[in-house]
Amino acid sequence: MRVLVTGGAGYIGSHTAKVLARAGFEPIVLDNLSTGHRWAVKWGPLVEGDLGDSALIRELIKSHRIQAVVHFAGFAYVGESMQRPRQYFRNNVTYTLRLLDAMTDTRVKHIVFSSSCATYGTPASVPICEEHIQTPINPYGESKRMVERILAWYGEAYGLRWTALRYFNAAGADPDGELGEHHSPETHLIPLAMQAALGEKPALEIYGTDYPTPDGTAVRDYTHVMDLAEAHVAALRRMLKSQENAAINLGTGSGHSVRQVVAAVERVSGRRVPVREVQRRPGDPPELVADPAKARELLGWKPRHSSLENIVQTAWNWLISRKPTMGGVDPARRKVDPLREAPSHATAA
Ligand SMILES: NC(=O)c1ccc[n+]([C@@H]2O[C@H](COP(=O)([O-])OP(=O)(O)OC[C@H]3O[C@@H](n4cnc5c(N)ncnc54)[C@H](O)[C@@H]3O)[C@@H](O)[C@H]2O)c1
Repeated sequence: MRVLVTGGAGYIGSHTAKVLARAGFEPIVLDNLSTGHRWAVKWGPLVEGDLGDSALIRELIKSHRIQAVVHFAGFAYVGESMQRPRQYFRNNVTYTLRLLDAMTDTRVKHIVFSSSCATYGTPASVPICEEHIQTPINPYGESKRMVERILAWYGEAYGLRWTALRYFNAAGADPDGELGEHHSPETHLIPLAMQAALGEKPALEIYGTDYPTPDGTAVRDYTHVMDLAEAHVAALRRMLKSQENAAINLGTGSGHSVRQVVAAVERVSGRRVPVREVQRRPGDPPELVADPAKARELLGWKPRHSSLENIVQTAWNWLISRKPTMGGVDPARRKVDPLREAPSHATAA
């Protein structure tokens, strides 16, 4: 089965393309490489182009005989969305509409959509189940919620079959070392902590140490990117059998604080992570943890890779082995404090 993977050169999309190929699907990647990478597309062709280009999408659906879509393409920085809502609504909503119209017109019926826990806003209670009210507090979360609503109406009117997967915090890297996270600028905690451990940035900023959590720092549900990828395959298989559309949380059900993550990075890397404690960021909830019961029930999905230790270990292996052509730092140029040099067991990737 040929599957169009929009945003398949990005972090989660590239890992999913790998898992799709392993499961017997043929991934065809569409990506404009705005934040994605050519080197990350290895399990099928890359069509370099923009989601907003309706003629291109229709052409590629026909020429590649696409039968289903997994839709990752979009902008994903919460802070940036506050400054540039226009770009976020255009890329995440308007262009998704064009994709859905092309699918409807070419009779492609199945789509798995990358939604987000950002659609919940500040939760009234944790763990968060899918019935929790969705009141996003930034344009990014709003754009994801809008697409969820559009999917529901396209399902009603045109018979579109859809699954919206609401990811919590994606983290970790392919255990085979072929893929990993490379965002620029990097905003995710684990790679930032590692960059601080390597001396590539002076310190990791901890936003808020006075939250009502056990150690005062914010708690998040970190889910390994390979577990997320496997959930997409399960969602696709389920949709091909069942008529039921669904929005499903993808998280582990366990949270880790910023300090726990920092401690894990120090254990795995054998280096100290210099930190700087600063004010809370407006709109950052104290705790975001998923209730994963629905994913277990509907998809038979149980995270296998998502222990904090494994997430950090795979991310570390990726970061230190990544070639300069893949955004890695040339080891000769990496600033290393000899007092913080890692023991050899920690750097063996
Ligand atoms: N990373 C997370 O923790 C997380 C959490 C919740 C939801 N999500 C969602 O998952 C999806 C993937 O996230 P990611 O972390 O892999 O981000 P990413 O930036 O690595 O991947 C997004 C990909 O989409 C491509 N893209 C963007 N706009 C495009 C367009 N108009 N046309 C063609 N390609 C386009 C980019 O080049 C990139 O390859 C996003 O939709 C994001 O909102 C991510």
